[in-house]
Amino acid sequence: MAIDKKIVSILPALRMILSEDKVKVAKISADTDSSIAHIEAATDGEAPLVIEGLKKEVAQYKSKNGKLPQIIYLKGLGVVAVAESAYEVDCLLSEKSVDNKKVSIGRASGKTVIITGGAQGFGGGLVEHIFNDGGNVVIADLNEEKGQEYAAKLNKHAKTNKASFIKVDVSNPDSVQELIYKTVCEFGGFDVIISNAGILRAGGLDEMTPEAFELMTKVNYTGYFYCAKYASGVLKLQTAHKPGYFADIIQINSKSGLKGSNRNFAYAGGKFGGLGLTQSFAMELMPSRVKVNSVCPGNFFDGPLWSDPEKGLFVQYLNAGKVKGAKSIDDVKAFYEAQVPAGRGCTVIDVMRAVYYIIEQEYETGQAVPVTGGQEMLN
Ligand SMILES: NC(=O)c1ccc[n+]([C@@H]2O[C@H](COP(=O)([O-])OP(=O)(O)OC[C@H]3O[C@@H](n4cnc5c(N)ncnc54)[C@H](O)[C@@H]3O)[C@@H](O)[C@H]2O)c1
Repeated sequence: MAIDKKIVSILPALRMILSEDKVKVAKISADTDSSIAHIEAATDGEAPLVIEGLKKEVAQYKSKNGKLPQIIYLKGLGVVAVAESAYEVDCLLSEKSVDNKKVSIGRASGKTVIITGGAQGFGGGLVEHIFNDGGNVVIADLNEEKGQEYAAKLNKHAKTNKASFIKVDVSNPDSVQELIYKTVCEFGGFDVIISNAGILRAGGLDEMTPEAFELMTKVNYTGYFYCAKYASGVLKLQTAHKPGYFADIIQINSKSGLKGSNRNFAYAGGKFGGLGLTQSFAMELMPSRVKVNSVCPGNFFDGPLWSDPEKGLFVQYLNAGKVKGAKSIDDVKAFYEAQVPAGRGCTVIDVMRAVYYIIEQEYETGQAVPVTGGQEMLN
């Protein structure tokens, strides 16, 4: 049975009401057996009213028992478990005892992060780092097979954190809304969304079809708007119920968002536009303690976009004779590397460091953080 969509406007608040110094995980099951619940709460009426009722119930339970409740029955919606980790909430909901599983400790512990386009490339790399650093990750991707496989692979070595795959098409608003709903049901909310999914179809004015232009714009530009639109509701609800807590919307932009790109205008145009969105969202959301920033990486030569042996840009550029005198893929790669003062392409860890800077910083928003090895320098 599907859980009522109303949960999106309630559970992120409850997650924060029940978080003390550490932010917790909350998961709802469609179960209506309330026998294991510590408290029961009415859910009829508008969400703010339900939240007020929940606050009162929680305060009463705490003053009577000297601790916070962990299992809450939301009448007609389902049973919610709230604990410090994804592992613990699963134990609580299945009435299993919590064993001494190794606790995930690291730079991302206590964070739940959605990464769109997280099944491979930069997104896949960010997923791996955040997971290994103790965070819960939602791999949100169009590629179901790859995403499922990746989540299963990570979970084999999970400590108390968890990787989930949720299928999404970021160019479809209903699909993005569903991603947010499913994330809330699984984790109670999230702390960071990384809008990373992106596509590239290069071509000059003669080659670019209106259809290809539209498709790139929908994924790279409009998709970022959909992510910010549906994520911000949850993030604002969380910050409203936890003083001093900050959340993040991060867009993976590109050096092509900072400087025009020859015969690649559909991509560069969408990325330039993305920075306009970032600055504007940042102004709107900073009063609610939601930071919005972009990261502008240089070329990721080791990723599939460039290095795929069949469709990668190195093969394409070699076959198209784009680099004068180049006889092999290595020649093409050397040509592009020579344009970077750092002498190499951008890697996942370079982007990860920028993402951590953004998350940990409480006094910056609306920025485009370049990670280009010196290839693009800000004025
Ligand atoms: N590769 C580079 O050199 C480079 C450089 C700078 C910035 N970037 C940016 O980094 C981001 C990731 O690029 P990458 O090279 O790692 O890409 P990639 O092609 O390796 O991976 C992209 C992922 O996004 C998914 N995806 C595609 N369309 C989607 C959609 N509509 N909805 C949901 N998921 C979708 C794909 O299935 C894939 O898993 C993009 O925003 C890109 O513009 C890439």
